[in-house]
Amino acid sequence: SVIVIDFGAQYAQLIARRVREAKVFSEIMPHTASVAQIMAKSPSAIILSGGPQSVYAPGAPQVDPALFAQGVPVFGICYGFQAMADALGGRVARTGLSEFGRTTASVDAPGTLLAGLPTAFSIWMSHGDSVQDAPAGFMPLAHTPGAPVAAFEDADRRLAGVQWHPEVLHSEHGQTILTHFLYDIAGCEPTWTPASIVDDAVAAIRAQVGDAAVLCGLSGGVDSAVAAALVHRAIGDQLTCAFVDHGLLRAGEREQVMQDFPRITGIKLVVADAEDRFLSALAGVTEPETKRKIIGREFIRTFEQTVRDIDADAHIEYLVQGTLYPDVVESGGGEGAANIKSHHNVGGLPDDLQFKLIEPLRTLFKDEVRAVGTELGLPDEMVWRHPFPGPGLGIRIIGEVTKERLDILRQADAIARHELTESGLDREIWQFPIVLLADVRSVGVQGDQRTYGHPVVLRPVTSEDAMTADWGRLPYDLLEKISTRITNEVREINRVVVDVTSKPPGTIEWE
Ligand code: XMP
Repeated sequence: SVIVIDFGAQYAQLIARRVREAKVFSEIMPHTASVAQIMAKSPSAIILSGGPQSVYAPGAPQVDPALFAQGVPVFGICYGFQAMADALGGRVARTGLSEFGRTTASVDAPGTLLAGLPTAFSIWMSHGDSVQDAPAGFMPLAHTPGAPVAAFEDADRRLAGVQWHPEVLHSEHGQTILTHFLYDIAGCEPTWTPASIVDDAVAAIRAQVGDAAVLCGLSGGVDSAVAAALVHRAIGDQLTCAFVDHGLLRAGEREQVMQDFPRITGIKLVVADAEDRFLSALAGVTEPETKRKIIGREFIRTFEQTVRDIDADAHIEYLVQGTLYPDVVESGGGEGAANIKSHHNVGGLPDDLQFKLIEPLRTLFKDEVRAVGTELGLPDEMVWRHPFPGPGLGIRIIGEVTKERLDILRQADAIARHELTESGLDREIWQFPIVLLADVRSVGVQGDQRTYGHPVVLRPVTSEDAMTADWGRLPYDLLEKISTRITNEVREINRVVVDVTSKPPGTIEWE
């Protein structure tokens, strides 16, 4: 695989994803990894990511020059480019000119890295220092107004780098440059495909599980559905799925899971009715984190009970977790990753869990999970569902959660989701929470009557990974239609507002 060394900026994951978009498997390692640890992975290539620091800042992460003497191709990006220049005897200095944001790269000699590109193109940069002289043996390829050497390569030693960020979408030809490095300089083969991911995962699951019984908690979301389908492909009827109806679901959700999931996948499904238990536990609670804790706790109890019910005739040894790669990376890539994610996926698993975990999506990003789902034959409606939080509508009612308020929100949410789907914008919009401001009232006039109802907030967002997000620019016609329908059809709601806050500073959910 290709190893992306993380120098502490937020770009390492993006680089790893772009490498995989080129159908080459990639993994992230921290910059504290030693050359021996990196080489133990038998990397086909190494990419040094950008980082927040100056190469000369005290305590700045250094690159061991031995890394470049292993015969493994290396590509340096931004900070990684400067660190490479510095380690190999080039000259890095402050030019007095910082470049942040968009600028132009001018090609001096294309070499292999920039072959076939225009002589000037738009790129996205963020640096204060710059490389003045390339190290001996390197050919300078391009410059920018603030960087005399903004790209270089040493074709013989298979080393190359760029000062800018080819991984971000604002950099033109970024993916082309990356593939020139991967295919033409490093000699990587494009073999990482959804089909190969499925084959590898199926073999790994079979080897891990043997003939034991396995349980998968189903949330109705993409990750658990794909994880279940993958495990089912590997071990068939040894798998049972459990779905907890906590009463905080959206309209039609339970029915859809019950009808579609077993029919499409052939997987056994049990459903736990737990609405009463959740709503009585939530009575009188308004504080968001307290809501989450209660929902998590009740989830565990319901789940354990369900397991006991099933386990009467099947001894369940394994539990499937839909842990994704970003969770693994963010928790240091170590063994502790499962614990962190367990809160997120199943609403919090107990520490003394009696199961061993299977995490078939542990190496995948969200978009790869979707591709695997499609490869496994899951329909688009399942694979392209928007993410939905474990605590469900419980954290979309600002104020106390009651059955009556849930019903109001469910109606508004169903209308908004239906209209978004009708407009064909489901895939452009990452998520579309509808939030009920249950303790707020405003005066309205509906049918010549004064009303004193509640507002709902429409929160369409675009995102690549939910870590950052922008507010979704829905067409006015669509907003009008949603607003008109909600205020006409949901009696308690007399006002519809749109949230136009990005993340940060807002979060996607209101609680
Ligand atoms: P925020 O609101 O933090 O959300 O911007 C980021 C993503 O996480 C989802 N989310 C949750 N998912 N349990 C979950 O399983 C939670 O408690 C939770 N809170 C937020 C949110 O829907 C978005 O996709």
